Amino acid sequence: MLARQTQSRTLHWLGRQLFNRDDPAAFFDPLLERINPMWVQAYTPARVEQVIEETADTRTLVLRPSRRWSGFKAGQHVNICVDVGGVRRNRTFSLSSSPILWREQGRVTLTIKRLPGGRVTNWIHDELQAGMVIGVGEAFGNFLVPEPAQPVLFIAGGSGITPVLSQLETMAATDYRAPVTLLYFVRTEADVIAREKLQALAARYSALTVTIITTHEGASPRYLCAADFDRIPGIRARQVYLCGPKGLMDLARDLLHQRDIDDTDIHSTFFSVPQADLGKEALGGQVRFAESGIDVGSEGDANLLDIAEAAGLTPQHGCRMGICHQCSCRKTSGTVVNRLTGQASGPGEETIQICISVPRGPVAIDL
Ligand SMILES: Cc1cc2nc3c(=O)[nH]c(=O)nc-3n(C[C@H](O)[C@H](O)[C@H](O)COP(=O)(O)OP(=O)(O)OC[C@H]3O[C@@H](n4cnc5c(N)ncnc54)[C@H](O)[C@@H]3O)c2cc1C
Ligand code: FES
Repeated sequence: MLARQTQSRTLHWLGRQLFNRDDPAAFFDPLLERINPMWVQAYTPARVEQVIEETADTRTLVLRPSRRWSGFKAGQHVNICVDVGGVRRNRTFSLSSSPILWREQGRVTLTIKRLPGGRVTNWIHDELQAGMVIGVGEAFGNFLVPEPAQPVLFIAGGSGITPVLSQLETMAATDYRAPVTLLYFVRTEADVIAREKLQALAARYSALTVTIITTHEGASPRYLCAADFDRIPGIRARQVYLCGPKGLMDLARDLLHQRDIDDTDIHSTFFSVPQADLGKEALGGQVRFAESGIDVGSEGDANLLDIAEAAGLTPQHGCRMGICHQCSCRKTSGTVVNRLTGQASGPGEETIQICISVPRGPVAIDL
């Protein structure tokens, strides 16, 4: 750890001395990458050891990050960095394996669904092969189960099973001593991710009950309902973890509130930006990127990260969903609306996450 910090500080210092820039990795990485991709600084290189097809649109990557990576807790996610058509792109994915696999074998897995029209997920499905190297950022997120053990209910939908797989593997391996229930919603039987793993977990970990519910096999859709909760013993005492499409998460939250389970006992992680009501006032406006000396106009609900990229800037970013804070920048003036909450900022100076900030009138940013 100390060696890594020293190496990183030295590069940072060198970068500032030689090139007067704050991001030496951006200068050195292309050079280092040519010599050995495992030396790059901005992210931890991870070799793809294996690709496992889970369903028609979901595959699991077995990765071996270099040992300088700091590891993770079950339920956390990482930003990955890949080169798609000569452009480096970052995206966020949950780790689907247990931290125990990392500690014992130096491996982690990501389980990735193809998003129609998505640039990175389609590249991962169509181009990525075993033997290639991708970048992995440090893990983050607080979708973590309580310690010491408490009764837990997981409600997952589709690819939202990924952080839950990591948690269940870890709970089984550490003999988490409390009732654990998983309700896993998928459209059809063919969409079940890691069915055999789930069955094996339920067989060897007696605290765990797994119910897989298909929503679109019958004549009419079968969604989460109050009766599903009637079958869960002691539901009022459970810590509830939600991960899945917004519709499922909203429905689950309503049904839990009806049972007097309040938000302090409900934990969720979302895979896409929830669209808050951004109000009635007209959005968009003139944006000044002060450090770059660029002025551009914006219209509608475009966020500042997209606006900056369209203007040819390359701001630091990770998830593009308001989670990782890597895109945080100083706004020096103007009002922005937060895409997650619908709240408008004050007009003055403050730090904002540009990926979820939509200008409302003229805005100036330190970029
Ligand atoms: C904390 C977190 C954990 C995640 N974990 C996983 C995981 O374990 N497995 C997994 O498969 N995915 C996961 N995701 C979702 C994943 O990050 C996105 O699917 C991915 O970023 C899409 O990248 P792309 O380049 O293919 O799509 P883009 O080219 O970025 O997007 C194409 C279009 O789809 C829209 N879009 C982007 N993401 C989504 C989405 N999730 N749902 C619907 N529309 C979207 C965009 O607004 C855009 O219009 C996670 C997301 C977050 C925030
Ligand atoms: S890019 Fe992650 S919060 Fe903005």
